[in-house]
Amino acid sequence: MRCVAIKGVREFEIKEMDEPVSKDGSVVIDVKKTGICGSDIHYWVAGGPQGLVMGHEYCGIVTDPGAREDLKVGDRVTALPISPCGKCEACLKGNPQYCPDTWTYATGLSLTNPGGLAPKMSIRPDMVIKVPDSVSDNEVAMVEPTAVGLHAIHLADIKVGAKVLVIGGGIIGLVSAMFAKMEGASYVAVSETNAARGEKAVKLGVADEWYDAKNPETINEMIKKTSGGFDFVIECCGNAAAVSTSLTVVKPGGRTILVGVSMDPVTIPTVLAVMRELDVQGAIAYTREEFQTCIDLMASKQIDVLKFVDDIVGLEQVQASYERLTSGTDDAVKILVDPNR
Ligand SMILES: NC(=O)c1ccc[n+]([C@@H]2O[C@H](COP(=O)([O-])OP(=O)(O)OC[C@H]3O[C@@H](n4cnc5c(N)ncnc54)[C@H](O)[C@@H]3O)[C@@H](O)[C@H]2O)c1
Ligand SMILES: [Zn+2]
Ligand SMILES: [Zn+2]
Repeated sequence: MRCVAIKGVREFEIKEMDEPVSKDGSVVIDVKKTGICGSDIHYWVAGGPQGLVMGHEYCGIVTDPGAREDLKVGDRVTALPISPCGKCEACLKGNPQYCPDTWTYATGLSLTNPGGLAPKMSIRPDMVIKVPDSVSDNEVAMVEPTAVGLHAIHLADIKVGAKVLVIGGGIIGLVSAMFAKMEGASYVAVSETNAARGEKAVKLGVADEWYDAKNPETINEMIKKTSGGFDFVIECCGNAAAVSTSLTVVKPGGRTILVGVSMDPVTIPTVLAVMRELDVQGAIAYTREEFQTCIDLMASKQIDVLKFVDDIVGLEQVQASYERLTSGTDDAVKILVDPNR
């Protein structure tokens, strides 16, 4: 079967791969849709691991249920991409995202477990989740990034009436802003270096206003607008400029959630946190419960994530789609891949 693999720095290739069969009880699926994630972009930019077949946000149809006796051929499913050991203290306490093994064999993020940029996949059985018919394939492919935003907002523990800034209007920023509003924030702003994405956050109704992160006056404007700073800042970029801003525009005693990931060390003025007793909290992935909650919220139509989907492409367009998502000017936020197109 044909799949898309990392070839080099910012370069994919389409190559042949053996079709997966069920092994150690794994569930085999036909992939319907796979999302391109901001984390995948880091691997593509770095050019490796070479040969990596990404795609950890997907919807598929079971062709071999493997060890899952509760599943049958034809069931629609998704899965948590993480691969926790199930035995360590973190796993036993319901925090698989802290398990030291969780990313080593993660589906679509490791060479051993190829992801959904291919027509078929083999998935660790206990990570597979059956989805209801009322949630469309495109929505199912959006569950994983939605759960990242939900986890960040759960950790923020936003109070009704709070003022919230989300830095970065990629999909993680947009779903975080959406959940901040649902939690009762009175003012949600997004700051962006890409004006098209900033405007889009307002147009889609997840932000009340957007701020141009390229303008040096913006920080002062934000502090003035919020009479001294935001109660909560959700940092969804990971670079030094964004992390520094997150510590500057949060009010004294406020809380900053760091969601953005940087592959390189980031230098930040920690004095901003020390002098104003900031609560700085990291956020990684989600719990199984949060993942399921996102499916439930979609099924009950309490959230609309389809509005974030900009395009659906075939495997041949994956390279161009990554270029589009990293152009810095295009307003596209989420592109789904249909590997059978
Ligand atoms: N912690 C986790 O569990 C987790 C999970 C998924 C993704 N992530 C990370 O979260 C980040 C966001 O993911 P995404 O999919 O939305 O990525 P993305 O690349 O689509 O979005 C990042 C956005 O930040 C903007 N930006 C860059 N520098 C900025 C600055 N200084 N100020 C304001 N905006 C700026 C970019 O224009 C872009 O729109 C990535 O670093 C990703 O790796 C973390
Ligand atoms: Zn993702
Ligand atoms: Zn574990």
